[in-house]
Amino acid sequence: MHDQRLRRPSLLGRVCSAEYAASLIKDGMTVGMSGFTRAGEAKAVPRAMAERAVHDPFKITLMTGASLGNDIDRLLTEAGVLSRRLPFQVDPVLRRAINDGKVLFIDQHLSETVEMLRSRQLGPIDYAIIEAVAIREDGGIVPTTSVGNSATFAILAEKVIVEINLTQPLALEGLHDIYIPGRRPYREAVPVMACDSRAGLPYIPIEPTKIAAIVFTEQSDSPSANEPPDAVTDTIARHLIDFLSQEVKLGRLGMSLAPLQAGIGTIANAVMHGLIDSPFHDLLMYSEVLQDSTIALFDAGKLVFASGSSITLGPEMTRRFNENLEDYKHRMVLRPQEISNHPEVIRRLGIIGVNTALECDIYGNVNSTHVDGTHIMNGIGGSGDFARNAYMAVFVARSTARGGDISTVVPMVTHVDHNEHDVDIIVTEHGLADLRGLAPRERAPLIIKCCAHPDYRDALRDYARRAARERGGQTPHLLEEAFSWHLHRRRTGSMRGIGAASSQTGRESWTGPVP
Ligand code: COA
Repeated sequence: MHDQRLRRPSLLGRVCSAEYAASLIKDGMTVGMSGFTRAGEAKAVPRAMAERAVHDPFKITLMTGASLGNDIDRLLTEAGVLSRRLPFQVDPVLRRAINDGKVLFIDQHLSETVEMLRSRQLGPIDYAIIEAVAIREDGGIVPTTSVGNSATFAILAEKVIVEINLTQPLALEGLHDIYIPGRRPYREAVPVMACDSRAGLPYIPIEPTKIAAIVFTEQSDSPSANEPPDAVTDTIARHLIDFLSQEVKLGRLGMSLAPLQAGIGTIANAVMHGLIDSPFHDLLMYSEVLQDSTIALFDAGKLVFASGSSITLGPEMTRRFNENLEDYKHRMVLRPQEISNHPEVIRRLGIIGVNTALECDIYGNVNSTHVDGTHIMNGIGGSGDFARNAYMAVFVARSTARGGDISTVVPMVTHVDHNEHDVDIIVTEHGLADLRGLAPRERAPLIIKCCAHPDYRDALRDYARRAARERGGQTPHLLEEAFSWHLHRRRTGSMRGIGAASSQTGRESWTGPVP
């Protein structure tokens, strides 16, 4: 009946219910599932797995591209199905289970998972479960709104389950570019020479006999969870745009800047939105998640081409995207995440990477993942792939969190995802610190002056000065005090008042290098 969707007649006999497909997954298996930032995840089979586990308990290792929509991580966690999860997640219930030690979480650079699978440092994969718009005559799988790790999962897995999603438009076919790097050490350069390069196939090539089950579904992707831009994120965007304008004036960038990457979350999405009212034009994106801001930039005539690994949109943008799919399709490509996040390509294209920090320290180290150094928020995602290799690594954050009780600029971060060697620019609503070419003793006063909230500046200055005076060193710290801000918040619920004891010295106006 769905001959446009399942074009290989010999596979008709594999069509089955989600319940039957879920019954193929056994206790102890490793499953590689499609899904990247709430886009293109398998939906019916994991849901049926969670239902089955209620009367037939089993546990698996689950690998995906990145986060899943439709509460799949919540359902699998509540059903006790997950023993090990990688490489990224954003679900509050799973987050709690990870932080309680009930699910083991491997927080990985998104470009690395399939490299480790291919070289058998991870895996093997028993089943891949992949959402598709169609299966071709040759058995090739046409993915939906994300590519993520789906191609390599399907190629390496013992068996493959395909969910053909009838709500995903067939017109998505042609959007994808599946390029799989060769074996190392004889691998050739990844032939992505520009954001719009196409290097591979528009489908995932697999041996059709590996397809063990085919399930038809009609459930949509979850809408993006980003909050709309607000006054604070608008101000962060403005600081960054002013800075980039200055870079243009200095002749370091042209009006089309450099290819842009924007991380997940409300702040990075809002910063990209800010480019709509900027003087820049003919922009390019080489990113991983294409969000509402991507479509808005296309519609504003600012963006020429966008390369990513998934499309995650809110309801209004989803409607606009689907109505004009043929038009957008020629200006976009979705790649495997090892290619969208490939260090070689990122370095070669010279990308401006904009990612979000939970906190940064006075020397420019960034924590994007662990609250108080212990509790995972989401994961590093692709931020490390981009920050380490970017032409310019920008980190954005609000200067405070939790109603002002937390300063996001602290003496020492409690966990380092992006170290001072990788971080070029830090921006909050109070300003922008350009750290390029600065020594730690020069960075500290600049970050405090430009990025810290005024309520916390004196205490930070006081810390930096005493650290330099009492301990010295290339990167002065008072180890006995370095985490006192976090401990103070744990004790009192707020970082406020932390500097009260020593603020007499800190009140002197001080903006030069740490003496
Ligand atoms: N300590 C504790 N909590 C903090 C914090 C800090 N220093 N800074 C922020 N938070 C909390 C906020 O209070 C908020 O919590 P809530 O949802 O309970 O209100 C939450 O973190 C999100 O903060 P928000 O300011 O809304 O930012 P965001 O939505 O842009 O997300 C990250 C910020 C860091 C969590 C998110 O960008 C992330 O997970 N990044 C890592 C992965 C990544 O960068 N990927 C990029 C390539 S895809």
